[in-house]
Amino acid sequence: MDSDLSLEFLRVVEQAAIACAHTMGQGDRHNSDRVAVEAMRQVMDTVPIDGTIVIGEGERDEAPMLFIGEKVGLPHAKRTPPPQARYDAVDIAVDPLEGTNLCATGAPNAIAVLAASDKGGLLHAPDLYMEKLVVGPSSKDAVDLDAPVHENLTAIARCLGRRVEDLVVVVLERQRHEQLIADIRATGARIHLIGDGDLSAGIAAAVVGSGVHAVMGTGGAPEGVLCAAAMRCLNGEIFARLVVSKPEHEERCRSMGITDIKKIYRANDLAPGKEIIFAATGVTDGTLMRGVRFFGDGNRTSSVIMQNTPHRIRFIDSIHVAADRNVKIRF
Ligand code: FBP
Repeated sequence: MDSDLSLEFLRVVEQAAIACAHTMGQGDRHNSDRVAVEAMRQVMDTVPIDGTIVIGEGERDEAPMLFIGEKVGLPHAKRTPPPQARYDAVDIAVDPLEGTNLCATGAPNAIAVLAASDKGGLLHAPDLYMEKLVVGPSSKDAVDLDAPVHENLTAIARCLGRRVEDLVVVVLERQRHEQLIADIRATGARIHLIGDGDLSAGIAAAVVGSGVHAVMGTGGAPEGVLCAAAMRCLNGEIFARLVVSKPEHEERCRSMGITDIKKIYRANDLAPGKEIIFAATGVTDGTLMRGVRFFGDGNRTSSVIMQNTPHRIRFIDSIHVAADRNVKIRF
């Protein structure tokens, strides 16, 4: 992939974040999601790629745009692309608004996000649940998805040179996590229960100094693939297994080419691409990124853009100025 593409994808997530940030706290998660999707879709068609959505808003018949299999990018736009241009074939996973409820209620850590890779570089994951364990670079060789909670937390604490009681584990606050939460509490580790957004938490777990040392529990599989793309760039790790609890889940896996339904995936399995780009912009204030701030003459966004080839992580603070405004930029 062209290495300048990362900045093109930055524009895509920035515009999705700006659009839905206007709906923050309005209490309508579907509307927040809709405006993020529309903005992301519109900007995507200005990016010079021959793109295919592999993780998106759902199947073609349930999503009007950014559906799985949809072709996106400049050559597929309704305008005439420049002649003789060469376009990289790129697979794209999107979540225009990760944490729809977070945005609708103004809670922290809603983000607009996408990952891109060379063809075949992102697992076509079914929209099922996935058991996950996400850790940073220091602990990635010391944990196991099937190990008891106390063993994993003891290992993480050892790798980080601290006591188990000093760890912070992020868990989605769900009834299905009752036992997991009890097991973590029994170790003395600290827990941050979140309403939504295990992707933001996973990214934070791989960044030293974020105050998050692990993410545990079951969340969406699409978010798992996006997290894996981020881990490929951050050198963290996700251990994950699809939750296949009904015959129709199994059927769905097979139809997407997944035969080993008990497989424990790691980042390299979920996002095996040679070249990975991951882009996210904060919608509401979060652990690593601030939310969108509006100031009349424009707005300011906070994003992370990462790629593995060349290996580069950029935290980007952008000021977007409305045209024809005699604007004052403040630090
Ligand atoms: P949305 O962006 O679709 O609102 O999903 C947010 C999220 O909390 C994810 O971060 C998480 O993986 C998943 O939903 C958990 O699903 P559920 O809410 O069904 O437990």
